[in-house]
Amino acid sequence: MPEIKSLLKEERVFEPDAAFARQANWNKKTVAEYRKLGATSPKRFWAKMARENVSWFSPWKKVLDWKPPFAKWFVGGKLNVSYNCLDRHLEGENAWRRNKAAIIWEGEPGDSRVITYAELHREVCRFANVMKGLGIKKGDRVALYMPMIPELAIAMLACTRIGATHSIVFGGFSAEALRDRINDAGAKLVVTADGGFRKGEAFPLKPAVDEACKKTPCVENMVVVQRCGNRVSMKRRRDHWWHELMAEASPSCPPAKLDAEHPLFILYTSGTTGKPKGILHTTGGYLTHVTTTAKAIFDLKDSDVFWCTADIGWITGHSYVVYGPLSNGATTVMYEGTPTSPGPDRWWALIEKWGVNILYTAPTAIRTFIRLGDEHPKSHDLSSLRLLGSVGEPINPEAWIWYHRVIGGGRCPIVDTWWQTETGGIMITPLPGAVATKPGSATLPFPGIHAEVLDQEGRPAKAPNGGFLVLQHPWPGMLRGIWGDPKRYREQYWSQYPDTYFAGDGAHRDRRGYFWVMGRIDDEMNISGHRIGTMEVESALVSHRDVAEAAVVGRPDAITGTAIVAFVTQKGGAKAGDALAAALRSHVTKQIGAIARPADIRFTDALPKTRSGKIMRRLLRDVAAGKKTAGDTSTLEDLNVLAALRGDDES
Ligand code: WT7
Repeated sequence: MPEIKSLLKEERVFEPDAAFARQANWNKKTVAEYRKLGATSPKRFWAKMARENVSWFSPWKKVLDWKPPFAKWFVGGKLNVSYNCLDRHLEGENAWRRNKAAIIWEGEPGDSRVITYAELHREVCRFANVMKGLGIKKGDRVALYMPMIPELAIAMLACTRIGATHSIVFGGFSAEALRDRINDAGAKLVVTADGGFRKGEAFPLKPAVDEACKKTPCVENMVVVQRCGNRVSMKRRRDHWWHELMAEASPSCPPAKLDAEHPLFILYTSGTTGKPKGILHTTGGYLTHVTTTAKAIFDLKDSDVFWCTADIGWITGHSYVVYGPLSNGATTVMYEGTPTSPGPDRWWALIEKWGVNILYTAPTAIRTFIRLGDEHPKSHDLSSLRLLGSVGEPINPEAWIWYHRVIGGGRCPIVDTWWQTETGGIMITPLPGAVATKPGSATLPFPGIHAEVLDQEGRPAKAPNGGFLVLQHPWPGMLRGIWGDPKRYREQYWSQYPDTYFAGDGAHRDRRGYFWVMGRIDDEMNISGHRIGTMEVESALVSHRDVAEAAVVGRPDAITGTAIVAFVTQKGGAKAGDALAAALRSHVTKQIGAIARPADIRFTDALPKTRSGKIMRRLLRDVAAGKKTAGDTSTLEDLNVLAALRGDDES
């Protein structure tokens, strides 16, 4: 592994704004105190957070049970996530929140719904009763394959109410990807919709579920939300309309008293093999982590309108569209559609319309808006904004500065938050009232989080040298394993350094101790903030009858961060060319989904390999990026292959 050095030289520092700091949930003093406690005793720090921010039916007996790499938090404690997100905002001194907006939802066509806490509570209870009626019990898995509509949040919370474990599959995934995830989790019920609106059209979802469920013996029932009114076929006895079942269901359902370690959800993410990993999160630790971080990092106040733009199908949506904000009694915005529909100013119109105060989005979106032009945000009143967030990939300093100036009007702090599906919640981040920011740096670990950058030998890397980002102490929101695969869990995250979580990212720390995350160091790519394994795309490609061999790499892209480039050798008889490239692109879309569709497909007679037969991805990355190969090629089996790939005759 070549030494990782950062070429980034970003010197600008933005001190916390005094006025913001004065009103912040966590000011400098609080943060200093928590940092101290979190450094000396992460257990005591997190126990304090769990007590202060989460409501428990019965207290835990032990804060942490750590048998590396398996952690249990708040052992013996009993709680319910939907109780924390709903009931506790309807009772006692919080009862005034009954009629506060929990969810402000806007559909792409411009229709909208404002759902109060009291109403959300009733709907969640109703759907919990619907599921009970369909035979769903504590511990059963429920797959959700839905557009960004309130029913998705309702179904999630209803699962938590009765202790069913949800597995949300992003609506952009294909029928094949859905089928594999349903089967891996053994889901008994699938909740879906006829379709959802995107780019001005209804895109159908139900047909993909029908296709997937031809080969899912575990599925007994399907509930279908009517969103678009597009024609769907309903299978007798198996398929039910959401609105019909809900009309019959009682609006009261007691919350199950669940163990702190009860499985809350499974969420699939890419790995370095072709098979996605079912990341398992549990109840008490996860809720403590997301409730605390949402309150501290987004400075959530009762008067705020908070908008996290992520789709709920990703971890960001789980933690910061639904659970974190609702557990804090905040108002969360959900938007169904694409940012540029019907026009390039849709997001800015939404911010103006609903008076959004806090915006949390991804660098790829920011870069898209930069390209669309400043006139679109400038044509709307964005003065309600007071805090901005970024997540999903490293934010380039130019995009940071633009976000700060054009969207934040120069007055909003930016929190660049590093975390992963596996970490459950935010891990490295500025605290907006306390930590000075530098464009491009996620700054410092959250209190109670022990992050470090290690070199190959396991020593902290010294600036300016980089290394591998690790976590040296368990944290409450951490994954509890890979569903059904403890061996892979151990190998993937815990085999590189003893009792240390290996994140798979390269990073370095500057003299001030700030973290600069540089991106994945393994065979995963980050496309528009979403992880796609090179192996996943490769196995999709080689499953096509005309493909002999495929190697997939990422190349830098101005908008999506990384674009997928596939090098393909075709089978004898198959003709390389645009027709085959188009066929392969749609094949990958069918196998995985549109996010995995290669931007470029390059046909070649051979792939560069080491003498032991390993594909030299490093060389392919250089070729894909149009760079001359700088590194060592001494193990390359045939240098002519490289020359042919580049289309030159040197070397
Ligand atoms: C990977 C995790 C966590 C929510 C969204 C993605 C990259 C994430 C940052 C950031 C630099 C970042 C890392 C990480 N990443 N946030 N602020 N700065 N890189 O979740 O799909 O599990 O991806 O996204 O490479 O490992 P995910």
